Amino acid sequence: MQEIRLGLLGCGTVGGGVVRLLAQNEARLTARVGKKLTVVRALVRDPKKERPSELPASALTTRAEEVLADDSLDVIVEVMGGAEVARDYVLSAIRAKKQVVTANKMLLALHGGELVAEAKKHGVDLAFEASVGGGIPLIRVLRDALASDRISHFAGIINGTSNFILTKMQREGQSFEAALAEAQKRGYAEADPTLDVGGGDAKHKLAVLAMLAFGAQVASDDIPTEGITELEPIDHVLADRFGFVIKPLATGRAHDGTCDLFVHPALVKKDAPLANIGDVMNALALTGEALGPCLLSGRGAGDMPTAVSVVADVLDVARAKVLGVMGQATQALALTPMKPSPRSQANGRYYLRFSVFDRPGVLAKITGALGDRRVSIEQMVQQGGGDADGTAVSVVILTHRANEGDVAAALSVIAAGDFVARPTRLLRVLD
Ligand code: NAP
Ligand code: HSE
Repeated sequence: MQEIRLGLLGCGTVGGGVVRLLAQNEARLTARVGKKLTVVRALVRDPKKERPSELPASALTTRAEEVLADDSLDVIVEVMGGAEVARDYVLSAIRAKKQVVTANKMLLALHGGELVAEAKKHGVDLAFEASVGGGIPLIRVLRDALASDRISHFAGIINGTSNFILTKMQREGQSFEAALAEAQKRGYAEADPTLDVGGGDAKHKLAVLAMLAFGAQVASDDIPTEGITELEPIDHVLADRFGFVIKPLATGRAHDGTCDLFVHPALVKKDAPLANIGDVMNALALTGEALGPCLLSGRGAGDMPTAVSVVADVLDVARAKVLGVMGQATQALALTPMKPSPRSQANGRYYLRFSVFDRPGVLAKITGALGDRRVSIEQMVQQGGGDADGTAVSVVILTHRANEGDVAAALSVIAAGDFVARPTRLLRVLD
């Protein structure tokens, strides 16, 4: 074997970055594996599109079997995205005993259990460092560096596009639409950006993190998920007034053989480490029982940061092939099916923004409904130009710790009141 032969499924933002990185650092990478890493074939939809100059046009194909049925290939790198076609191709590669690398969190969230089981059965590796956190080595840290510890909980910013948009809105007053367009132009967003701003991408990544952190195999659709599209400029202003910034979070906590997993925008204290993770940066703040707190951060999207993680995986699986230890890393992944707890069982502090008519007795009705459900108030402000005639104003309440089911029950009582002008906005506060 003179070289390690790679087949790419996809050669867009990430695949292009992989081709460039392999070419830029060829000598160093060859030295690490003991063999040259050569991209032999790349599957694309439109061969006429502009691609990295390092990839000869003869390597491009629109026929998947030219990659999947090529016995000379050692490693298949799936960077095409989507779930169902990618699943078929990855299963086919695994069954042909190829080492597989993927950056595809949707694929892992929907079919990860099946793919890991199949890789174990066929004695090959399925590596997926780039699927969460772009260029940050989160998967390696959870799988290897912290293998001796138990992760009790974590909170992360794991969608670069959402963080980019919120940062642009908060710091530069940019509109949501302009910030999203810029994220798309820079190659951060998914092909379908509603996955980013609607929380779906973070949900898929959280399902992958749960596999590594808690050994949990969850159905990603069971993860309670909220995106950033419902946030309004006034929420940023009011959060700031209470000493917080709003961040797009994914959180996990292990308890009693199950786990809490949530995706939502949340208020983060301005002096907390995650509050200062801006732009496209991602971060994971985790707590290990033995280790204590640990923060990992870096660029969470884009061609070259993501390519760094994909190529790190290519190096690992190529070396395993050269050394004759294929499949060992994946054998170590033990997964137990788990159902994440529902929101109603969550406990925390809440930001509640009521849009109500400014009439006598309204505050008493709100605080009464909360009090009836044992939800205690920590701070309260009224904002807006109400008058005695009943113009709508914002009343914002920050609660003490409460059960989320109780908060929801109080809100549904309040929603029925004739003093409510618009639906109440609920945001969680990061502890
Ligand atoms: P992209 O720019 O849209 O590239 C997708 C590539 O796959 C393109 O080359 C496309 O061909 C090809 N492709 C897609 N469907 C195909 C099909 N059915 N048959 C043949 N070729 C097909 O996407 P990307 O941003 O590189 O993302 C790729 C994967 O990496 C996704 O799973 C994404 O979630 C993940 N990821 C992305 C980032 C990021 O920052 N962009 C970071 C981490 C992980 P054409 O070029 O001809 O259209
Ligand atoms: N669309 C993703 C994001 C790419 O914005 O985080 C990185 O996975």
